[in-house]
Amino acid sequence: MRRSAFRVPSSALEVLPASLATADRIHTQITSDDRAERAERGTRNAELGETVRRLADERDAVILAHNYQVPEIQDIADFVGDSLGLAIQARKTDAPVIVMCGVYFMAETAKIVNPERTVLSPDPTAGCSLADSITLRDLRRWKSEHPEAVVVSYVNTTAEIKAESDYCVTSGNAEAVVRSIPADQEILFLPDQFLGSWLKERTGRENMHIWLGECHVHAGIRPEEVRARQEAYADADLLIHPECGCASACVWANGRGVMNPRTYVLSTEGMVKHASTSAADTFVVATETGILHRLHKEIQGKRFVAADENAVCGYMKQITLEKVRDTLRDLAPTVEVPSPIADRARIAIDRMLAVHA
Ligand code: 13P
Ligand code: SF4
Repeated sequence: MRRSAFRVPSSALEVLPASLATADRIHTQITSDDRAERAERGTRNAELGETVRRLADERDAVILAHNYQVPEIQDIADFVGDSLGLAIQARKTDAPVIVMCGVYFMAETAKIVNPERTVLSPDPTAGCSLADSITLRDLRRWKSEHPEAVVVSYVNTTAEIKAESDYCVTSGNAEAVVRSIPADQEILFLPDQFLGSWLKERTGRENMHIWLGECHVHAGIRPEEVRARQEAYADADLLIHPECGCASACVWANGRGVMNPRTYVLSTEGMVKHASTSAADTFVVATETGILHRLHKEIQGKRFVAADENAVCGYMKQITLEKVRDTLRDLAPTVEVPSPIADRARIAIDRMLAVHA
């Protein structure tokens, strides 16, 4: 963005009326520069998007994109959804090539559920702070301390961790999976502490141990920020992702009737479904801001407000149209998961896919 026309006022005199005209001109200048740049970017994206769609047709590829992807990626994808939806689509597609626009564990999951297909990751360095919060060594040590426990892993984990797990879950079906496990069975839940404590609160399971991992984006959304937005938009429904630090606090407070009753803890797909059927016309959305594009696009006439505009996942934004074009052109980088790991991880993932929320 060209911001060079802007300067900080050097003295209080500059805010007097005579200077306001100058300030106004500067403002107009910035606005028209921004508009020109937006138009230029729009044209470039439209051209790139056409190239990507042409290459996808030539390669007989399906493009899957997570709800946190940048708008221009969402707009050219064949399917946009949450982690569960992406895994379901990756498994059921008969396209020989799958392009996964999301972070790397999503591409690995696509390869594990459909090993016969070529899975492409436009940027394999797109990681996830939550997946990084537990190592294989950590998990093996934890298991040795609880030899009778079953391991329930959130989908935001590496293939190696999934291979060491009994069940895999997403935010879309975690509660249903945990409820499907006999009540007297000890559980090790990893890696997200907030989703874990929300599940514990919801299911009342005392025999569930929780790993203290977190996603830096969701953990950064503070209850005070959420409360401030709720006060500003008093009639809004509040949609909270269970990875947020504030999710379990909201459930706890809800149970005691002191929190706004229009609070819903949902996966990203759950948010889209809820907003399209709710009678509310305004929604405060506590998750990564990429979801707002899909909400605005699919649900017209309603207002969506980010609980925290800074909740942006840099890993998700590493995927660009240029990278998608290159990956389709070169049919690389491909995603490979060694068979001994993939075969074990598939058992946990199949259990996840068997339990739809
Ligand atoms: P869902 O889209 O499955 O709700 O997950 C959010 C997320 O953080 C994925 O990285
Ligand atoms: Fe991982 Fe958090 Fe980014 Fe989701 S938002 S991909 S959990 S770092």
